[in-house]
Amino acid sequence: MLKIENLHVTADGNEILRGIDLEVGAGEVHAIMGPNGAGKSTLSNVLSGRPGYEITEGRISYFGEDLTALEPEERAAKGVFLGFQYPVEIPGVAAMTFLKTAINAQRKLRGEEELDARGVMTLVQGEARKLNIGADMLKRPINVGFSGGEKKRNEILQMAVLQPKLAILDETDSGLDVDALKLVGEGVTALRAPDRAMIVITHYQRLLDYIVPDFVHVLAAGRIVRSGGAELARELDKLGYGELARAPAA
Ligand SMILES: Nc1ncnc2c1ncn2[C@@H]1O[C@H](COP(=O)(O)OP(=O)(O)O)[C@@H](O)[C@H]1O
Ligand SMILES: [Mg+2]
Repeated sequence: MLKIENLHVTADGNEILRGIDLEVGAGEVHAIMGPNGAGKSTLSNVLSGRPGYEITEGRISYFGEDLTALEPEERAAKGVFLGFQYPVEIPGVAAMTFLKTAINAQRKLRGEEELDARGVMTLVQGEARKLNIGADMLKRPINVGFSGGEKKRNEILQMAVLQPKLAILDETDSGLDVDALKLVGEGVTALRAPDRAMIVITHYQRLLDYIVPDFVHVLAAGRIVRSGGAELARELDKLGYGELARAPAA
């Protein structure tokens, strides 16, 4: 589904990603772990098409297509979803309105019929219930005054409603208490599907108690320095990033 080869990325002239190779197949869940500043958010931003980054070397293919040739909204319509580390507040736009706009923008780009208000409502409310998100929260301006846990649950709601093929969750666990962590982790796990891949970016192992990954990769100083199975996350939790995270010789 996704194949990243020798990816080098700079921002403001600084090389942040220094040769990433990563292959993600349908149905797989990959965790990317690493210390702050390793380049985790940069990788997710580049995959979603956020401006401000330059790919200086390498390739990203998505279902055999050059992902970098697509605009961010085309990527989204083709099933790429990014859950943000710091969800943005959108004053004046209710969560429900935002979701309706997002759902229909994607359907339109795919040449599908738009959903009417009732169709959107049914879809959103069904998913919201599973995440313990009440109707009042859907009426409030998106993320404005939401607690950390509410913001993250709202991100998972967006993912549940948009049904992506490749979901990238950037530190969805940061700032969550144990209850919210469990809800988010279980919400994500419920969205695992044979035709859906997920890249779960996290600093800590604790989210991976609820989302058990098929593969774990350690990103340090812009490179994947180690890959393994779910046990690698537990190992890192005990040992810390220590030696692994030290910048490899340039
Ligand atoms: N737009 C940018 N311009 C310059 N440097 C950046 C930019 N974005 C990120 N960086 C730098 O790149 C490194 C990796 O950042 P980031 O991808 O956010 O790491 P992580 O998410 O792993 O903590 C950091 O040193 C950060 O300061
Ligand atoms: Mg980050």
